[in-house]
Amino acid sequence: MTGLSDSFQRPIDYLRISVTDRCNLRCIYCMPEEGIDLFPREDMLSYEEIYTVARAAAELGISKVRLTGGEPLVRAGLSRLVSMLAGIEGIEDIALTTNGVLLARYAAELKAAGLRRVNVSLDTLRPDRFQRITRGQRLEQVLEGLRVAEELGLTPVKINVVAMRGINDDEIPDFARKTIDDGWNVRFIELMPFGEEGAKEENHIPVAEIRERLEALGPLEACMPAAGGGPARYFRYPNAKGSIGFISPISEHFCTNCNRLRLTADGHLHLCLLGEAEVDLRAALRSGVSQAEIKAILQRAVAAKPERHYLAEGKGPFGKAMAHIGG
Ligand code: 5AD
Ligand code: SF4
Repeated sequence: MTGLSDSFQRPIDYLRISVTDRCNLRCIYCMPEEGIDLFPREDMLSYEEIYTVARAAAELGISKVRLTGGEPLVRAGLSRLVSMLAGIEGIEDIALTTNGVLLARYAAELKAAGLRRVNVSLDTLRPDRFQRITRGQRLEQVLEGLRVAEELGLTPVKINVVAMRGINDDEIPDFARKTIDDGWNVRFIELMPFGEEGAKEENHIPVAEIRERLEALGPLEACMPAAGGGPARYFRYPNAKGSIGFISPISEHFCTNCNRLRLTADGHLHLCLLGEAEVDLRAALRSGVSQAEIKAILQRAVAAKPERHYLAEGKGPFGKAMAHIGG
């Protein structure tokens, strides 16, 4: 068989690369107001080091790459990394997950460098609430980013909405309407136990309940993902141009279809978002090992991927911030 697969016969063809743990927002389900302990600068992989890892991964069969953070657009010169990755044989899809604040500014150069599409995290359409949830910046900048990304064809743009009871769940119908009126592709994500608000049980809403609330507005029909596949299940209202996706890491974990490896900004392979296991690649990269050895480390990491996360058993996420791992 060609390509990578793990010990549970899951094909692994997707690499998420966190390029920084820094962020220009402080979302309540991600970071405390004062921020998180940041990786020392000298521990962060250079673009050349990231390129080396991605090239080895591509030789092993990784074909899709996503850049994440923290907020990836706060790292200087990100489009240089995109063009380096776009030049790797075997990498067919390069995407970006961003909070959208800097998207309008960088979208054109990212597109020119070879970025295919973007996911934008946006949990509210109300300016005052945006301030409260993200503790900063302006909603209009994100909406402008969405508009520019759409116009430049970084599409389909997907909007990630973390649904939180008592915080933004009253906007579920507003986001639903955006899929009809403006063709948005909205994905509702179950809150995971990161950050202050994520830790509070009362904030969590299972996807089944979100779906019920959406069906009260009209029938939903199953549909294909607009692009990329991934863990979401997709639906649409009849005649809507856009779609609604559900990502349920907690209530119905999708670990059996896990297809990914995660590279942290400080050069570790994180084997499961909600698990503890990591493999240090930075030490190997900096000791000047061969490309063949990098590939061997990647293969060993894939083989060590855990079968699933154990949140239901009360284990995880082990004191790590989402911004350290890259979501
Ligand atoms: N629970 C669920 N989703 C989260 N994200 C960040 N923190 C959490 C959390 N605690 C989301 C971001 C982004 C995606 C990568 O992960 O909003 O869209
Ligand atoms: Fe920044 Fe994303 Fe975390 Fe919000 S969720 S603080 S945008 S990294």
